[in-house]
Amino acid sequence: MPAPAARRDAWVVGDMTAVEAAKQIAGRNAAEYVVDGMRVGLGTGSTVHHTIVALGERRPDIVCTATSLRTHELATSLGLTVVSPDEVGHLDIAIDGADEVDPALNLTKGGGAAHTREKIVAAMADRFIVVVDASKLVEHLGPFGIPLEVLDFAPAVVAASVQRLGATSVTTRPDRSDNGNLVMDAQFGDIADPVDLAARLSAVPGLVEHGIFTGDMVERVVVAHSDGTVTERTH
Ligand code: A5P
Repeated sequence: MPAPAARRDAWVVGDMTAVEAAKQIAGRNAAEYVVDGMRVGLGTGSTVHHTIVALGERRPDIVCTATSLRTHELATSLGLTVVSPDEVGHLDIAIDGADEVDPALNLTKGGGAAHTREKIVAAMADRFIVVVDASKLVEHLGPFGIPLEVLDFAPAVVAASVQRLGATSVTTRPDRSDNGNLVMDAQFGDIADPVDLAARLSAVPGLVEHGIFTGDMVERVVVAHSDGTVTERTH
């Protein structure tokens, strides 16, 4: 199987920054987990972009579902077969990026406002593999903020509920999600118990989805470092 610890990869050329190069290494490395016959969930973002490109080059015999309109567009433009989540029903594997990863493999996601679809797709998969550059590794989730997808019915009421859970600020992004909903970012500082906060956020009416993905969803995190090496985190 792919990704032995501390493997050096050779795809990095030209004038990419170290972080961009690491994203490419992590993304391409995880593509090796995909083999013929699989049903594959494709994440969203600049790291998993490279997974999708690698799959487009190799064209294994797979059926994919996409976590965003832009991923759908990219994958189909590369000749991959993309169907809706309902059509595929269940996934063998899903691969996606993250904004933060803690030692228990809890994640913050949603920097690209795709976390609702990403969480549905990750939950459909037997194996959820996360691809990051090493800058995403944190001791505690929190510094990035927690993305929230919010129904545009009572956003101030939802924001107030989130503040009662400990958020010191809740701001609204100018752009909406692919689902047409508002996207907010809540700041909690360092989050001591992300599993507990995830459960509390899930109980807020009108909060469509939050960006905490608990570690129990995650099989492994493929981490690319600035020196070109790749390591993996598992439970
Ligand atoms: C999309 O909403 C996010 O969850 C992304 O998966 C996350 O922001 C990671 O993106 P990058 O790989 O671009 O850092």
